Order: sequence, then C-alpha cells, then structure tokens
Amino acid sequence: MLAAPEPSALSGKTVVVTAGPTREKIDGVRYLSNYSSGKMGFAIAAEAARRGATVHLVSGPVTLPTPPGVQRHDAESAVEMLEAARPLFADCDLFIGAAAVADYRPETPVEGKIKKHDAEMELRLVRNPDILAEFSTNRKPGQLAVGFALETAGGIDYARRKLTDKKLDLVAFNIYDGTTSGFEVDTNVLTLLDRDGAITELPLLSKEEAAERLLDAIELLLPR
Ligand code: CTP
Ligand code: CA
Repeated sequence: MLAAPEPSALSGKTVVVTAGPTREKIDGVRYLSNYSSGKMGFAIAAEAARRGATVHLVSGPVTLPTPPGVQRHDAESAVEMLEAARPLFADCDLFIGAAAVADYRPETPVEGKIKKHDAEMELRLVRNPDILAEFSTNRKPGQLAVGFALETAGGIDYARRKLTDKKLDLVAFNIYDGTTSGFEVDTNVLTLLDRDGAITELPLLSKEEAAERLLDAIELLLPR
C-alpha cells in the first residue's frame, strides 16, 4: 500500500501575498506605474491555497481572475496597498511581497486634467512606504517575511542586501530581461537566497512551477 502524502507545512497557515503593480496618480486621467502583470504573485497565492493555507491576496490593478479559494483585496496605489495589507499583518504566518510597488508617487496629484503648456513641466515625486519592510520590522517571532528582488543585471548583491536590510527569511532574485524572466511573461528564472546563506538557482520555469519551488523552499523555513 502507498503511504499517504505528507501534509504541506502550509496547511492551516495564513499567508498574505502582495501582487501586481501600483498606480500613482498624476492627475484625474494619468498615473505612474510599471509593467508588472501580477502573474507571479497570483501563481503563488493559487499554490498556497492548493496546499491548504488561508490566503489573502492584496492586488494592484491587474486583469487576472482570482485563484480558487483565495481572498482578494484590491488596491490601486502603494499607500492603498499598505492600508489593505496592514490589517492582515497581525494574524499571518507568512508574508510574501510579490508586488512591484512604485517607490515614488507624485507629491500633489492634480484634480481634473493637467493642460499642456509651451514650457517644460516638472513632476515632484515623494517616497512611498515600503510594505514588506513595514511588515518585516514589526512582525512577531515566528512570522516569516519573503520578498522579491527584481534587478536588471548583475543584481545578486542587491538581492542579498535586500535580504539583510529588510531582515527577510528569503528573497527571490529575479532578473528582468523582458523575454523569459520578470514582468509580463509566463516564465521566470529565480535564484532563492535564504537567511541561512543557502542559494538555490532555479531553471527557467513557468510561473506556476516557480511558485511551487518557491513555496517548497519557504516550507523548510516555517516553524513546525
Ligand atoms: N516592496 C514593498 N513596498 C515598496 C517597495 C518594495 O513591499 N514600497 C517589496 C517588493 O514587493 C519586493 C521587495 O520589497 O518584495 C523588493 O522590491 P524591489 O523594488 O526589488 O526593491 P526596493 O527595496 O524597492 O529597492 P530598489 O527598487 O531601489 O531596487
Ligand atoms: Ca523598488
């Protein structure tokens, strides 16, 4: 007789995932944003739910359907994403920041539509809050914090710095090359760096497979 499969370490845990881009208002009809599709974060949320976790997905504006069994909280800007995520911080076992949160927002969004003039125009930007860092620095013992580090090239040192600066348990270093890895595409090449210094280089995978491998690595770090 075959032995029953081991239950997932995520079964019965509560997971919060941020996903997608944020939009930062310039005026009533324009915004600053990025090319994030939300696919990686949605794939992680779907897989965590399949493994028996209670999953809250805090999503920026994307065109993806909500995965089965996942509780979705929509937000537009970084400030709104933090407001949607913050009430979920206290009761989660694991926070995964997969959103491409805009680092800056226009200082004073204009009501209505800005009209063009002959002169140049300046747009003053101010820093947005860091959602993952806020969770990570205020969390209770036993709560895990996982982030992504999207870099264009040679970025593994930046990824390592994010792991230590934001006091993360694991960071998924993600090279953005615009074709097989990063935003918009269906595949990803991740390198996982964990708090103990272990480095796992994953091959080119679909975002669903990458989510499985990422959650496998996280399961090993979860308190039993
Ligand atoms: N993140 C976040 N809130 C922000 C910025 C980033 O929660 N305002 C999270 C992202 O979801 C990701 C991690 O922090 O998990 C790293 O994001 P990234 O943009 O790669 O790094 P930054 O720390 O913003 O640094 P930089 O953009 O300068 O590389
Ligand atoms: Ca950033």
